[in-house]
Amino acid sequence: MNVQFFIDASFILATLLFIYGLKRMSSPVTARSGIVVAGWGMVIAVVASFLYVFNVAPEVKPHLTVNIALAVIALALGLGWAWRSGKKVEMTAMPQMVALYNGMGGGAAAAIAAIELFGHKAHGPIVLIMAVLGGVIGAVSLSGSLIAWGKLDGRINGTWRFTGLQAFNGLILLTLLAIGAWTVWTGGAVSPLLISVFFILALFYGVMMAMPIGGADMPVVISLFNAFTGLAVGFEGYVIGNAALMVAGMVVGSAGTLLTLLMAKAMNRSVSNVLFSNFGASGDEAQGEISGSMKPIEAGDAGINMRYASKVIIAPGYGLAVAQAQHKLYEFVKILQAADVDVKFAIHPVAGRMPGHMNVLLAEAGVPYDIIYDMEDINGEFKEADVAIVIGANDTVNPAARTNKSSPIYGMPILNVDQAKQVYVVKRGQGKGYSGVENELFFADNTNMVYGDAQKVLVAMVQAVKALDGGGH
Ligand code: TAP
Repeated sequence: MNVQFFIDASFILATLLFIYGLKRMSSPVTARSGIVVAGWGMVIAVVASFLYVFNVAPEVKPHLTVNIALAVIALALGLGWAWRSGKKVEMTAMPQMVALYNGMGGGAAAAIAAIELFGHKAHGPIVLIMAVLGGVIGAVSLSGSLIAWGKLDGRINGTWRFTGLQAFNGLILLTLLAIGAWTVWTGGAVSPLLISVFFILALFYGVMMAMPIGGADMPVVISLFNAFTGLAVGFEGYVIGNAALMVAGMVVGSAGTLLTLLMAKAMNRSVSNVLFSNFGASGDEAQGEISGSMKPIEAGDAGINMRYASKVIIAPGYGLAVAQAQHKLYEFVKILQAADVDVKFAIHPVAGRMPGHMNVLLAEAGVPYDIIYDMEDINGEFKEADVAIVIGANDTVNPAARTNKSSPIYGMPILNVDQAKQVYVVKRGQGKGYSGVENELFFADNTNMVYGDAQKVLVAMVQAVKALDGGGH
């Protein structure tokens, strides 16, 4: 048996582990183990890559020591950085981290393309096409993801938009296509200058693509760049004949595409609408007439009312994650359950700032999955609920999405919290949601506002109900 056999077998094993791991990630019950399984797949793929050492062509041998040293340094730097940042990242900053890691993946794919193209390696036209496409898509994903990261992290503010922007971007794309086609036509015999222009333009295109998009749409854009990275990696896997890269790239590419479409659908928007119109910045315009007034209530009183309800549905949102109040919330839920209240969670598909944000948050606090419901499964139940309590959510419960055609969130499916007999809304003050629009739910007759940080409000609710049920026991 030769080394190549071990390399191939390891890559197939790694591939199977990636796919099996991804499958396990589709449910919160098995997701954690899915990540570990896919991680082992990655360890095997990395180790197998070093086996090439035993299988190199004679002319490469003199460079082997330097190359191995470079690979080990790169691995150590990457591992150290990822370990540190992964450990200390806040849940609310997860989309930024995903954007950065994703950008690195795109950059790595573009780097493979650069080595192939600058090195004038002998390739047939199909491989060249793959190298060129992977190069451009990877470079766009790198610079675009970096801009997305900067925007989400509040380092880059504002959006660039000027008349003719789309035509300008179209021109860049055409130039890229022309250089790419010329590269393939000439069998890769193009000057290093032209290849440099090609990559610089691709990086510039990524910037121009991400800059005009508002912060509110960034998670969708990141997911799109994620799909791009997958595609680029898959193409470059083909170029260097690496099965694990090819499959991993395809899996990431299709998962990213599906996720992008799902997110856009949950916001009732098309992907092109996300890319070419400005949702996040259009916030304050187009308000419908809102009648009624906001009626505050003390946290303790709201807590006690829920203690005497028979059915309570909780709609969590981004504010719950900001307050890190998931543990306190679950403590409160257990107290209600002990008093025979039927408590359920209603999860909107884009509640929070990333897909599954609320599920992860609640899982972290140990909330059992059988009381957590997706929007479409629970929306019919709100009319039977005595209380719907909204904790740090805003856009995802805004009834204007149903009725106000001029609202930027018009058409987005929402949780029917307004149909409950009584609605409590926990938030700190008059802060708007991510889309920047006012919420008419807060002014409705059956709504009371519980002002305060979600953590503090829940502490007060727990205390009030405990005091009622037996002097703090
Ligand atoms: P948001 O509409 O963003 O509203 C969050 C609310 O939480 C704010 O109104 C804020 O009001 C309140 N809040 C903030 N910190 C708080 C704290 N410490 N304690 C209590 N309340 C706090 O949240 P949502 O309903 O979850 O909606 C998500 C939004 O993100 C949607 O517009 C969605 O389209 C967008 N989005 C999500 C995704 C994914 S995948 N999840 C992707 C793209 C876009 P105060 O400042 O008054 O407290």
